[in-house]
Amino acid sequence: MTTEYHPLLRKIHWATAFLFITAMLIGFYCGLQPPGTSPRRELLEVHKSLGVTLFLLAILRVMVRVSTAAPPEPASFSPLVRLAARLNHWALYVVLFAMPVTGYMFSAAGGYSLRYFWTFSWPRLFAGNRSIEHAGELSHGLLAYLVYAAVALHIAATVWHVLVKKDATLARMWPAAGRDRGSGVT
Ligand code: HEM
Ligand code: HEM
Repeated sequence: MTTEYHPLLRKIHWATAFLFITAMLIGFYCGLQPPGTSPRRELLEVHKSLGVTLFLLAILRVMVRVSTAAPPEPASFSPLVRLAARLNHWALYVVLFAMPVTGYMFSAAGGYSLRYFWTFSWPRLFAGNRSIEHAGELSHGLLAYLVYAAVALHIAATVWHVLVKKDATLARMWPAAGRDRGSGVT
């Protein structure tokens, strides 16, 4: 029985963690700046490009997750801790898909820039559709609170496992060198 996540899933997790937190902080900063100003405009281009990249990574991640073995939840965890962890992971998976989709909805429908890292532009579906624009904008803004809460809880839980419980939770996801060969593949 495996005690850690598949090596590819672990790599995707840490790439996602870095890109997601960067996108989240840029989004937070841009939300405080008046529309049309610099550097909000330039930063939003990075934000959107990171968001699309995260969406593609999320698809790959789900494919790897369902086709490989995940480590069973440690028996030492109380039912409450297991439930909290499961809800937290579900919330993170939800926002991994919902944030790019809602962001795309309001940028595409509102006619805003959808350039990918200063290169090509993604197609603008629903151009000019005000209800899709408003639904996307409203849900992106509301889901941002779920993002802040879920990420803060997730990091706090990891710190608690490492510093207080001193258990192997982080090792289940940590990409330790030399440990990758042959582990966790079904
Ligand atoms: C995982 C991906 C994403 C995350 C975590 C994320 C997160 C956020 C956050 C936290 C905010 C600040 C919300 C506020 O203060 O109201 C924000 C704003 C924004 N996001 Fe995203 N976002 C993501 C993807 C996208 C994508 C793909 C697009 C567009 C294609 C996008 C477009 C925007 C825009 C335009 C704003 C500024 C909203 C405003 O100030 O009116 N986001 N995002
Ligand atoms: C510094 C930031 C982060 C740390 C320290 C961290 C740590 C961890 C650890 C230790 C686990 C394994 C938990 C377990 O086995 O029960 C885990 C799982 C997970 N993490 Fe993170 N994480 C971070 C950021 C993120 C971010 C930003 C996201 C997504 C937006 C995320 C999504 C997930 C998900 C969905 C799982 C469950 C894995 C699965 O069952 O597929 N993490 N994380």
